[in-house]
Amino acid sequence: MLKVLWPVAVAFTAARAAPSNESCSLCEGVVELLQEALTWNATEGLVESVARDVCLAGNGGFGWTCSGAWACNDLCSNIVKVFAPEILDIAGRLALDPTTDCVALGFCANTTAESSAMLTGVADKPLPATTASSLMRIVHLTDIHWDPEYVSGSNSDCGEPLCCRAVQGPPSGANTTCGYWGDYAGDTNTALLDSYLAFAKSLNPDVVFATGDDPPHNVWNQTQEYNTGVSINMTRKMAAVFGSTPVFPILGNHNGFPVNQYHTNTSEDQAWLFGPLAQAYAQAGWLDESAIASFAQAGYYTARIPASASSPTAMRVVALHPGLHVTDNFWTILDQDLNIANMTAWLTATLASAKAANETVYLLTHYPPNDGAYYPAWFEGIVAPLVAQYRDTIAALFLGHTHHSQVQVMWANTSSTPGGGPLTPAVVAYVSPAPTSNGGTNPSFRVYDVDRATGRVVDFREYRVDLAGQGLINRLSPDPAPQWELVVPSARSFYNMTDLRPSSWIALAERLRTDDALFHAWEFAYATGNPTEADYSDGERLERVCDVIGGTATLKSLCKQGRFNASVAH
Ligand SMILES: *[C@@H]1O[C@H](CO)[C@@H](O)[C@H](O)[C@H]1NC(C)=O
Ligand SMILES: *[C@@H]1O[C@H](CO)[C@@H](O)[C@H](O)[C@H]1NC(C)=O
Ligand SMILES: *[C@@H]1O[C@H](CO)[C@@H](O)[C@H](O)[C@H]1NC(C)=O
Ligand SMILES: *[C@@H]1O[C@H](CO)[C@@H](O)[C@H](O)[C@H]1NC(C)=O
Ligand SMILES: *[C@@H]1O[C@H](CO)[C@@H](O)[C@H](O)[C@H]1NC(C)=O
Ligand SMILES: *[C@@H]1O[C@H](CO)[C@@H](O)[C@H](O)[C@H]1NC(C)=O
Ligand SMILES: *[C@@H]1O[C@H](CO)[C@@H](O)[C@H](O)[C@H]1NC(C)=O
Ligand SMILES: *[C@@H]1O[C@H](CO)[C@@H](O)[C@H](O)[C@H]1NC(C)=O
Ligand SMILES: *[C@@H]1O[C@H](CO)[C@@H](O)[C@H](O)[C@H]1NC(C)=O
Ligand SMILES: *[C@@H]1O[C@H](CO)[C@@H](O)[C@H](O)[C@H]1NC(C)=O
Ligand SMILES: *[C@@H]1O[C@H](CO)[C@@H](O)[C@H](O)[C@H]1NC(C)=O
Ligand SMILES: *[C@@H]1O[C@H](CO)[C@@H](O)[C@H](O)[C@H]1NC(C)=O
Repeated sequence: MLKVLWPVAVAFTAARAAPSNESCSLCEGVVELLQEALTWNATEGLVESVARDVCLAGNGGFGWTCSGAWACNDLCSNIVKVFAPEILDIAGRLALDPTTDCVALGFCANTTAESSAMLTGVADKPLPATTASSLMRIVHLTDIHWDPEYVSGSNSDCGEPLCCRAVQGPPSGANTTCGYWGDYAGDTNTALLDSYLAFAKSLNPDVVFATGDDPPHNVWNQTQEYNTGVSINMTRKMAAVFGSTPVFPILGNHNGFPVNQYHTNTSEDQAWLFGPLAQAYAQAGWLDESAIASFAQAGYYTARIPASASSPTAMRVVALHPGLHVTDNFWTILDQDLNIANMTAWLTATLASAKAANETVYLLTHYPPNDGAYYPAWFEGIVAPLVAQYRDTIAALFLGHTHHSQVQVMWANTSSTPGGGPLTPAVVAYVSPAPTSNGGTNPSFRVYDVDRATGRVVDFREYRVDLAGQGLINRLSPDPAPQWELVVPSARSFYNMTDLRPSSWIALAERLRTDDALFHAWEFAYATGNPTEADYSDGERLERVCDVIGGTATLKSLCKQGRFNASVAH
């Protein structure tokens, strides 16, 4: 009955890529119109064709763009089919109240949400002496975006969000030809994936973290079976390479179908997603029985790290289902519960029992703490305070999503008095880069060193294939093979730090403001070594400084306004 919402949703979502005050007013206006339109009747076919026309007229929809008749027709006719059932379902259940729907849809700011102003601080705790002889090595793989249908020699100027596929026609010339090892318009192909996994294995990791996003970026062409199939095939490939090395996987936003979408009634994602993946993980020997059962139920789990059995501190992975409390998941429009699938209660209980057992926790999620993906009521209202409360138990957060090399510091109140007392840097969130080159990043990943005695992260390294620099762009020959260069041999010494404590990252961020050599090194790593992606402007500099300092969306925003910085941690 509310099928008229669909074309409007498509048009809106195109604007939603950059939410602004304008799109807020637009949303409110249109939801008011829709209230009027409730009495209309339109057939689904008509609605889909109108939606496709809106997409074609706007050269794209849902935040994705296209150019050229074939590309736009392919993107628009398929994206309508991919999203239509869910949007129509949600639209039929919407309250149609412009003041709340547009906040829930992410077009408008929630003006009733309280802003925090807690701008005093204390110094970080001193670090216990470490015995560097006993390190545990974590290889962090994230955002692989494997495109099994990448074709060497295909067209990199395809007009669609993901290129280098056979159906996109022949390249117009040598410089628009997708190379054997990859292209900045394509995703990770099978040749590069094999090189990446083999190289990661050659480093002899004790543990592998895999923080989501196995499927490629052909989001307008996917199905449930396709996305799950890519992940299962990836699991088999990784299991064959890593053997008995434990791998701890989580879901990213691209494991959902359509992209970003997960039912808040998690039972509905069991049969097509959690169950088949849990079975693949079990066959790979990755997780124990209770972790498998928990994942199969609701997409999250906790498990001991086996390699830590002989360590002075037992180590535990706590793996979230990150897509349940994010604004890009449209199912959350209908369900803003702060304890969807009991995950919040489970997280709270899991951290409490880990602390009681003197364990060290590695918290895996997909989206960064401060990029605005999560609903603040959940992340800043619940998760950040939990991270703060358990800062002696949680060694670090590990995540990806951005495909960039980043570090973000989360803070803790030092008092339970009203206002929270002074703030202190508490826990580091490590945002690791990705092997996909889609969008201009170079294939990259990090390896973390953990001190077995304390469970703390003491250093990391970064490896990278410079696709352009190594002459691999537009090159059809498998020779030369990609080189995984050790571009940051030790973050600690590369960035002139004494250690990787949270307060040391804050000190580094403050140095970034004035130390040009340091900022250039940091920005170049952020851009994964692609000079055309690096930006040395003052605006970008503030963005990078506050990215480190402000480990929640609110603190990052205060930092950019000059209202939150290291001076609070005297
Ligand atoms: C647009 O921004 C102004 C100033 O920040 C604010 O007062 C107004 O409420 C905003 N409008 C909407 C529709 O969010
Ligand atoms: C819409 O369809 C319903 C049910 O088929 C019908 O009762 C109603 O009169 C229709 N409304 C309009 C405006 O055609
Ligand atoms: C806005 O924030 C307030 C306070 O956090 C919350 O109670 C309310 O549900 C939010 N409104 C929407 C539409 O998200
Ligand atoms: C590709 O090469 C042609 C001529 O060889 C040139 O005109 C064009 O600008 C190049 N395109 C790109 C994307 O470099
Ligand atoms: C998308 O799917 C359609 C229909 O299955 C197919 O014709 C088209 O080639 C696909 N496009 C891409 C880029 O794979
Ligand atoms: C997974 O691998 C099987 C066996 O090689 C293949 O038939 C299937 O197409 C693959 N699935 C995807 C989504 O690539
Ligand atoms: C959740 O989904 C399951 C499976 O589709 C269904 O049986 C159950 O009724 C749903 N629960 C709610 C509260 O809608
Ligand atoms: C939710 O999690 C808590 C803590 O683990 C547990 O005690 C409770 O039984 C769970 N509730 C449900 C409904 O599963
Ligand atoms: C945890 O560590 C404390 C202090 O070292 C010790 O007293 C306690 O017995 C330990 N608890 C467990 C469950 O090992
Ligand atoms: C610190 O305390 C303030 C005020 O009670 C609260 O709003 C904020 O969420 C707390 N922050 C953390 C990280 O616990
Ligand atoms: C680290 O310090 C050395 C010696 O002062 C300096 O040459 C180098 O540029 C610094 N590195 C960075 C990334 O700032
Ligand atoms: C740091 O914060 C203090 C206190 O809010 C403020 O006065 C100062 O201008 C800030 N400095 C920078 C560089 O943002």
